[in-house]
Amino acid sequence: MELNNIIETENSFDADAKAVSNLQELENVRLKYLGKKGLIADIMTKFREVPAEQKREFGQKVNALKSKIENAIEEIKLDLAKKQIEEEIKNTKMFDYSLPVDTNTGSLNPRTIIQKQVVDIFKDMGFVIEDGCEIETEYNNFESVNVPKNHPARDMQDTFWLSNGQLLKTQTSAAQNRILRDYGPVCKVIFPGRVFRNEALDARHENTFFQLEGVVVGKNITVANLIYFEKAMLKALFKKDIEVRLRPGFFPFTEPSYEMDARCPFCSGRGCHTCGNSGWIELCPCGMIHPNVLKMGGINPDEYNGFAFGLGFDRLVMIRTNLDDIRYLNSNNLKVMSQFKTKM
Ligand code: DAH
Repeated sequence: MELNNIIETENSFDADAKAVSNLQELENVRLKYLGKKGLIADIMTKFREVPAEQKREFGQKVNALKSKIENAIEEIKLDLAKKQIEEEIKNTKMFDYSLPVDTNTGSLNPRTIIQKQVVDIFKDMGFVIEDGCEIETEYNNFESVNVPKNHPARDMQDTFWLSNGQLLKTQTSAAQNRILRDYGPVCKVIFPGRVFRNEALDARHENTFFQLEGVVVGKNITVANLIYFEKAMLKALFKKDIEVRLRPGFFPFTEPSYEMDARCPFCSGRGCHTCGNSGWIELCPCGMIHPNVLKMGGINPDEYNGFAFGLGFDRLVMIRTNLDDIRYLNSNNLKVMSQFKTKM
């Protein structure tokens, strides 16, 4: 065994190491040189044959080659791992958070857009925004707003009853009692919500629709206050002054009760398709809160009074968007819905 043998082994390792392109090949090279039956072990078995005067140099050279191979293999391993990560990153589709958002992918339901606008308008006028449950007790939905059992007004609101005796709320008025109790006298609250009635569907009727109810309680509140807030809301929503009128109405929760109409914002009263040529659009039932409702809400009707109104919200949305069929609003028909952008 000569020193040349070591140099040959080193050269052959250098060539093998250069050719390695993956971990499996690297392992094969490791076994070829460092394995139990590898070339280094082979050289060591021949140590005995080395002449005594060369033993020292031979031993040093073999050890040096062994550590060189061990180090080189570790280095190649790290290098391969780095290359693998770089490759994976290159092949991964990265998400660029700085790209501008494609705003054409969807749009809000016009009802959502207009509800936000109307809610903001009332908020600006100092109203608190509340909501209510969709499953309600018979007491909240009817009795607490002065509609006792067998009252004819119950027939006007075909109710979805649940097997536990509760119901799907037929009117946002169902939250009145809780709100009166929670806020007490001197409050201005609106509460939008989804309501349900067992109705046959047509262009003007849905079994699931939205209302936006408001109550104001204080001292010496009058119908003029009610008219003021409704006109202010209309002005902010339609960006112009809109005249309103009151007709007598009947609701158990209010006394007196009214139907409020608004001058058609499209024809300014001349008559058009939207207002059915009448020049007026039914806006909301309303009235002065019935003393019984105040009493049941824990408020003394001799000291305080107030008004309430119940905007049929889908109607308002239809007027605002010129949609002629209420069913579109629940349909999620993308052709129709995508015409409405977040700003209208
Ligand atoms: N809750 C009534 C309905 O759904 C609407 C209503 C009328 C609400 C008069 C009111 C009101 O607050 O004062 O038909």
